[in-house]
Amino acid sequence: MDLETFSPGSGLLEPRAALRSDAPALDLNGTWRFRLSPTANVPDDFAQPAFDDAGWDELPVPSHWNLHGHGAPAYTNVDFPIPVDPPRVPDENPTGDYRRVFDLPEGWTGGRLRFEGADSFARVWLNGHELGFWTGSRLPAEFDAGPYLRPGRNVLAVRVHQWSAASYLEDQDMWWMPGIFRDVTLTRSSADVFVRASYADGRGTLGFEGSGTLSVPELGVADLAPGAEVTLEVEPWTAETPRLYDAVLTLPEETVRLRVGFRTISIVDGVLLANGRPLLFKGVNRHEFHPESGRTLTYETMREDVLLMKRHNVNAVRTSHYPPHPDFLDLCDELGLWVIDECDLETHGFGMIGWRGNPTDDPRYADALLDRMRRMVERDKNHPSIIMWSLGNEAGVGRNLAVMSDWTRERDPSRPIHYEGDRSCAHTDVYSRMYASHAEVELIGRQEEAPLDDPELDARRRGMPFMQCEYAHAMGNGPGGLAEYQELFEKYPRLAGGFIWEWIDHGLAHPEYEYAYGGDYGEPVHDSNFVIDGLVFPDRTPSPGLIDLKKVFEPVRFEFGDGVVRVVNGYGFADLSHLEFLATVEADGEPVAEHRLTVPAEGGEVKLPAGSGTGEVWLTVRAVLAADQPWAGAGHEVAWGQVLLSPLIGEAVEGAPATWTAGLVRDGGEISVGSVGGSAFDLETGRLVRLFGVEVEGPRLGLWRAPTDNDTYGGLAGKWRGLGLHRLTHRVDEVEIGDALTVRTRVAPAATDAGMRATYTWTASDGGLELRVDVEPEGDWADPIPRLGLDMSLPAGAVEHVTWFGRGPGEAYPDTGMAARVGRWRASLEEFQTPYVFPQENGHRADVRWADLGAFTVRGFPVFGLTARPWSAFDLDRARHRPDLVPGERVHLGLDLAQQGIGTATCGPGALPVYDLRAGRTTFRLRFEPS
Ligand code: GAL
Repeated sequence: MDLETFSPGSGLLEPRAALRSDAPALDLNGTWRFRLSPTANVPDDFAQPAFDDAGWDELPVPSHWNLHGHGAPAYTNVDFPIPVDPPRVPDENPTGDYRRVFDLPEGWTGGRLRFEGADSFARVWLNGHELGFWTGSRLPAEFDAGPYLRPGRNVLAVRVHQWSAASYLEDQDMWWMPGIFRDVTLTRSSADVFVRASYADGRGTLGFEGSGTLSVPELGVADLAPGAEVTLEVEPWTAETPRLYDAVLTLPEETVRLRVGFRTISIVDGVLLANGRPLLFKGVNRHEFHPESGRTLTYETMREDVLLMKRHNVNAVRTSHYPPHPDFLDLCDELGLWVIDECDLETHGFGMIGWRGNPTDDPRYADALLDRMRRMVERDKNHPSIIMWSLGNEAGVGRNLAVMSDWTRERDPSRPIHYEGDRSCAHTDVYSRMYASHAEVELIGRQEEAPLDDPELDARRRGMPFMQCEYAHAMGNGPGGLAEYQELFEKYPRLAGGFIWEWIDHGLAHPEYEYAYGGDYGEPVHDSNFVIDGLVFPDRTPSPGLIDLKKVFEPVRFEFGDGVVRVVNGYGFADLSHLEFLATVEADGEPVAEHRLTVPAEGGEVKLPAGSGTGEVWLTVRAVLAADQPWAGAGHEVAWGQVLLSPLIGEAVEGAPATWTAGLVRDGGEISVGSVGGSAFDLETGRLVRLFGVEVEGPRLGLWRAPTDNDTYGGLAGKWRGLGLHRLTHRVDEVEIGDALTVRTRVAPAATDAGMRATYTWTASDGGLELRVDVEPEGDWADPIPRLGLDMSLPAGAVEHVTWFGRGPGEAYPDTGMAARVGRWRASLEEFQTPYVFPQENGHRADVRWADLGAFTVRGFPVFGLTARPWSAFDLDRARHRPDLVPGERVHLGLDLAQQGIGTATCGPGALPVYDLRAGRTTFRLRFEPS
């Protein structure tokens, strides 16, 4: 068989819809016999029924063989791991031979062999007869098995090659994982149907293409004939209100159960509409991934994805960058998510060679590209959740896009066509981009984007809705800037929102590294941790990015006024009647009252209960589900807002320092503080050595943070290292003992004249110690700095838990942490860390008024930022995988005045300028008290 053929397959049956039929089906998943060869050049005698496979291994189907001890996975983003020489492929071509013996039930005749997905070139034999071959890894293939089935024992043989001419079409940013990774069935179903169910003005119109008759008992529709149409009163389907009607297609040989949703997608005056109302995507890009099984997912895992998305206010998913397992789409119909179904096409690696030879523009590949589009559209055409077809991802430009798009338009005019890779939008209905900056999105929102050269295309594009099919790259700590994007999306009607890149970290379970990424299997060409860029960790634990996203995507907004809150309904289609509104008053973080608010279903202004209590009094309003929903239980929080009812506690930083009222006692080389038990400074250096009986190092000026992925890929971290901010030296110039203990220092990296004067002024009062730090930069500080704070360490065990009053419970940086609300929180030292798969700066708690660390309490004037870790920022910086971080002998505290913003520069813009931390003259104050 010619692996280097441009033809997408042979012997295949016409593609048809994925359907739930009562026709008999035989599940051929399970344990198969398996043999891996290093090249494609192996005799195919194994396909003969009599072949003896006793010496072969066993392999589960579905699975990827390289996750079962046969070879190893490899990760590349854009680069092809093979020479770019289409349609040729290397001699080294891992080839998996599969055999499965099955017994045909008595009386069984005919049927189709259906493969839901095999990566990437597969050839199939039944009882020694070759049925054909197929390509298109994430697409189904069906063969007529009838003529070759025999009563009793049957032998199915499949040969899968990793590399073929079709590999050049599948350069998605993910692990290379070959094998039969989706279900295999022998089915007697041959049904196909294309249900057309639209909605306008309270009425639905139903018709279908195919054969048989269609009935929808709930609507009183009985035995509708193909081509006929009925219009009736229905409830529409939307992602917020996923109303489905059970339908039955009756055919002579089988009965098919369908779930019909009525909805209409349209574009009017450049605005994307669903059922006549603006549709705003609050979306995520989802790859299929599981840390143990790769792209083979169980139904439970798919369901978990949808539930997690729904619970985090996500309303849309782009199936990047291939059609998902069909069950996932059923779940989207049922639980409610808008879906952009994307074709299994990416040729990004050609971009590395100036797009020379790109299959998208090579007529020899036209059939293959069209075949992929047809197989997706035909398989998925009945899902109400799918509201756009995407031609693929990052496949450059070329004539084959027209071939795909023209066919799709003709076949299904009801869904707009999406493709991001051709900025002229010549073959699409929406203008889609990835990672456009806030400023550019705003320009596009105002229809003021830079024009295309071709005026006709420009006018056409300017009239299109705009969406970001990818934005806010969720790699490591971040993404920052989400709230600002959302503001734009909600401001300009042309903007239809976007899809975060991406849903899940593709970290593969690994005995040594916990989660592996590119390079961990010794791949010669790889893209390291660029595959760890999800909103959930590999085990699907939400990362802070997802928690923030939930806040930013909230469908209810609270606008506080004097004694009132305006509750704004941000749903596109639903009202607020499914929610309950609870108001809690907290004084200094302690609850003092709880009220239920009565909010009209359409939203509106509501009077707030009066807040009372001493100290800082906050009122929090929460919108929770009033009753169980299929995707979350009653009480699940959908949105919240907070308002301060009394002034902030604490003095401002400018307040006068307390005077040194306690007696100073010289004691050997130390100065101890009479009124503050167990605390002492070094006489010569002025450094604090003991605090309330605990031996301490610091506090002293710290500018370093373990670079985040965004710091690294965006280039800041390189500048910081270049300047030497990770190896600051500290010099004490003067220790002055007077009303206060004043220590003048200069903090600077080697090899440059830039540095910072830091003056520490200590005073004592009321049993506590107060520190004022004045910082003055010297020399050239052109770039933003990582952080400005104090580093301090204590013996391990001195801090086991942190209780704090400030924003929490999770981490927050200047442009992240929208989900962190003011309250009193408690966390163990372990819970204080965010276990990013690739270790980096994390866990910073913001706007802390005070934190009780066990060893002592720190107060801000009025607030500070806090990190507490069983390892240092330098250990964090050196670590490459989670297990590299081992608690050491000390607990390290960061007491911060400020941190640099996070941004999303791994892909996209860095932190917005307002979140840049610039070196400048500053003062901050902290107070230490016994716990
Ligand atoms: C995009 C691409 C995605 C992913 C992302 C970076 O360009 O479409 O597949 O590679 O960048 O993580």
